[in-house]
Amino acid sequence: MRQSSLVVIANRLPLDDNAAPDGACEWRRSPGGLASALHAILEQTPATWVGWAGGVGPAPALPDMGSLRLRPVSLTEDELRGYYEGFANSTLWPLYHDAVQQPTFDRGWWETYRAVNQRFAEAAAEIAEPGAAIWVQDYHLQLVPAMLRELRPDLLIGFFLHVPFPPPELYMQLPRRVELLRGMLGADLVGFQRPQAAHNVAQLAKKLLGVVATDDAIAVDGRTVRTGAFPVSIDVTEMRALAARPDVVSHARQLRHDLGVPKRVLLSVDRLDYTKGIEHRLTAYSELLRDGFVKVRDTVMVQVAVPSRERVESYQDLRDRIEGEVGRINGEYGRVGEPAIHYLNQPFARSQLAALYQTADVMVVTPLRDGMNLVAKEFIAAREDGAGALVLSEFAGAAAELEQAFLVNPHDVDGLKDTLLQAMKADRGDLTARMTAMRQHLTEHDILAWARAYLTALDHTGQLAERLPAN
Ligand code: ADP
Ligand code: F6P
Repeated sequence: MRQSSLVVIANRLPLDDNAAPDGACEWRRSPGGLASALHAILEQTPATWVGWAGGVGPAPALPDMGSLRLRPVSLTEDELRGYYEGFANSTLWPLYHDAVQQPTFDRGWWETYRAVNQRFAEAAAEIAEPGAAIWVQDYHLQLVPAMLRELRPDLLIGFFLHVPFPPPELYMQLPRRVELLRGMLGADLVGFQRPQAAHNVAQLAKKLLGVVATDDAIAVDGRTVRTGAFPVSIDVTEMRALAARPDVVSHARQLRHDLGVPKRVLLSVDRLDYTKGIEHRLTAYSELLRDGFVKVRDTVMVQVAVPSRERVESYQDLRDRIEGEVGRINGEYGRVGEPAIHYLNQPFARSQLAALYQTADVMVVTPLRDGMNLVAKEFIAAREDGAGALVLSEFAGAAAELEQAFLVNPHDVDGLKDTLLQAMKADRGDLTARMTAMRQHLTEHDILAWARAYLTALDHTGQLAERLPAN
């Protein structure tokens, strides 16, 4: 394979291996924040993306996506279980999200996680030009920066964590805490969503490694590792263009009609994940129905919950609980042809998501903990009309930027009910003022601004950022 001067390594490629109805292999864009964000900037950038293409067995041959080359990494069935479903998504994912679900510490998974990280590092080392920049993404690959430094000391190495980095008390539970911390600190620049994460890492570096550390620099092995916050964003131009398309506008109108032309539509769009607070939200909505604050004919709730990590037991259990609760609520409060909640457990095209966002009067984004939450930003970008209310969890990274949202603590179900009612009753002038401020913020802080800020901090010269597409 040809060599590259910019290599991005992420667990997933932006394409997902999906079985078509006739059983044939069909490629579709993979859902999830990381793939959405990186795809937007890289599809027009001369670079190579190293990642897993979904599925098990030998890596498929994939064509280039414009100027972006794809370098698939293979996983066996055992590796998928130990690395992706195990250590990444049953140990690190719950622990990094405030342990809202109990993390599993299975000693058998560690070696697989380490071996798969080594494979990603070797794949990148093979195709990196001398002195190339390598940008490693997320908790799946936390050991890769140090492995790459070992393999190729000539490289400029960046690491970005899309999820929260937990407070030291929680991180200290990790059986392999020193190796994981050292792995990440193999980078020249470690980026986070929020400044608090950089603070947490500095505290841990002092405690676990006994090194000198501040919130923006850590001295390790005779090097200085820089750290900082770079809040990720969305392709605002893409979402605005989609939302303005006549077919999307008429689809949104049709959706409202299909929902029975209610006075109000509440919408939530999540991966089906226990961090997203779907159960708390259903409890709040069900109590509003029970107490007569919301009536089925006037108001409908649409919950999109795209399947995610479906072989992991805690995700299967969550799905059973959510589907049971939706069934209970619809059984108790729905009428013939008028369910209280429209529940959609399926992926949607971006244009369909844009139409859904336009249909919503109240967008309800209430994760218990979330690194950023791009859905909240997509909703704002899709609302050229300046209408609609955003109810947003204080525990989403996005809350630090979208201060004009109706901010809420989703653990407080009474507070959540009050905030939902407040958003439903807000007057048009108030909503427009809030949305205008948030749209302005997003225009200035889109995905390109994020990538430029990170890459400029990485190489100090701005040369890496020059490869990104112009606005
Ligand atoms: P996470 O990274 O935890 O998945 P985010 O909210 O940051 O959460 O990103 C989710 C991404 O997945 C968004 O870009 C959103 O548009 C996309 N997405 C969510 N639900 C669906 C769905 N049903 N079909 C396709 N894409 C979806
Ligand atoms: O945002 C965190 C994250 O793990 C991303 O890396 C990924 O895009 C998203 O959640 C979806 O998860 P998965 O890749 O496991 O489907």
